[in-house]
Amino acid sequence: MCDRVMRVFSGIQPSGNLHLGNYLGAIVNFVELQDANQCIYCVVDLHSITVWQDPEKLKRNIHEITAGFIASGLDPKKSIIFNQSSVQEHAELSWLLNCVARVGWLNRMTQFKEKAGKNKEKMSVGLYTYPVLMAADILAYKATHVPVGEDQKQHIELSRDIAQKFNIDFHDRILEITAKDEFFVLPEPMITGPVTRVMSLRDGQKKMSSSELSDMTRINLLDTADQISNKIKKAKTDSEAIPEKMIEIGDRYELINLLSIYAGISGQRKEDVLSEFSGKQFSYLKEALTDLLVQKICPIGNEMNKIIDEKEYLGNILQEGAKKARAIAHPVLEETKKIIGLA
Ligand code: AMP
Ligand code: TRP
Repeated sequence: MCDRVMRVFSGIQPSGNLHLGNYLGAIVNFVELQDANQCIYCVVDLHSITVWQDPEKLKRNIHEITAGFIASGLDPKKSIIFNQSSVQEHAELSWLLNCVARVGWLNRMTQFKEKAGKNKEKMSVGLYTYPVLMAADILAYKATHVPVGEDQKQHIELSRDIAQKFNIDFHDRILEITAKDEFFVLPEPMITGPVTRVMSLRDGQKKMSSSELSDMTRINLLDTADQISNKIKKAKTDSEAIPEKMIEIGDRYELINLLSIYAGISGQRKEDVLSEFSGKQFSYLKEALTDLLVQKICPIGNEMNKIIDEKEYLGNILQEGAKKARAIAHPVLEETKKIIGLA
C-alpha cells in the first residue's frame, strides 16, 4: 500500500440483504481505510435497478445499506456516504464513457454472462452496460483505490481500460485544457479484505450472494442468533476428519469456506484456525463458528435495526454526503465535457 493519502471509492448495491460476503469482502476494509484516507462510499441504487426492484422496497433497502455502513463503523464525519442517484454526475459521465468503452470489452465481462445465463436477450441493456456506470462512479472522483471483493476485479480492470483509452484518445485536448498528460486516474483494485471471496454455505464453489434464492446459503447482518445457529448447523460439510495442514485440505471447499469465515471474523490466520480444530468433529467447529458469529455479527444487526427506521437521521447523512460528493464530481464532469468538445 502506498503511504500517500489515497482517494478511496467503493459501492454496494441496495438490492437485498447485506451479508457476510459484503461485510468481510468489502465493509471491513471500508472502515479500516477511513482513518487515514479520503473515502467515498456509495449506495449504488442505479446499479440495483438493472434488475427489477420493487419501488416500495428500494427506498428501505437504500436506508438499510446506509444503516449497515454506520452500524459497521463507518463515520459520516470521516467518510462521504451517499446514494448514487442523488448525484446526477454519475449517470451523465456514464453516458460519455459508454462512447469510450468498446462492445468487445463488455462482451468479456463474466458477471454479465453469469447473471444473464441463457436469457441474455431478455436482460436489460442497463445490466449489460453496468460496468461502464461503475467506471463512471470511480472516475468521477479520480479515485486512486477501490476496495472490493474478488468478483469485482474484472470491472475495475475495465475502468482502467476506459480511463486509459480516454487519456489516449483525447491526449492533445487534455494537454491543451489541463496542461497535463493525463486526465483520468487509473484506479487500483484493493482486494485485501479478510476473506476476498466468501462462499455459499450450501455450495463451497459458489459465492455467497444476495441474489441466491435460498436464504440458507448466506449469513445476513440482520440475522438473529437462532438463524445464524440454524444456518451454520445446516451448512454443507463432508464426512472426513479435519486435517492438520492447509496442504492436506485439497478441494474440500466447504471446509475451506468455514475456516476462512472463522479466520476472517476472528482476525486469525487460516493456518492457526486449522490447527485449533484439526482432528476435531465438524460439530465442534460449527459450534465455535456460531458463537463467534453471534458475538461479532449480532451487535451489528442490532445496531442496524435500531437506526434503520430513523429516516430523518439516515436521510440527512445521505443528503450531506451527496453535497460533498457532488462538489468533487461536478468539476470532473464539466472538464470531461470540455475535453470532449461538448462545453
Ligand atoms: P454487491 O452486494 O454485489 O453490491 O457487492 C458489494 C461488495 O461486496 C463488492 O465489493 C463485492 O465484491 C463484495 N462481495 C459481494 N459478495 C461477496 C462475497 N461472497 N465474498 C466477498 N466479497 C463479496
Ligand atoms: N458493481 C459492484 C458490485 O456489484 C458495486 C459497485 C458499483 C462498485 N459501483 C462501484 C464497487 C464502484 C466499487 C466501485 O459489487
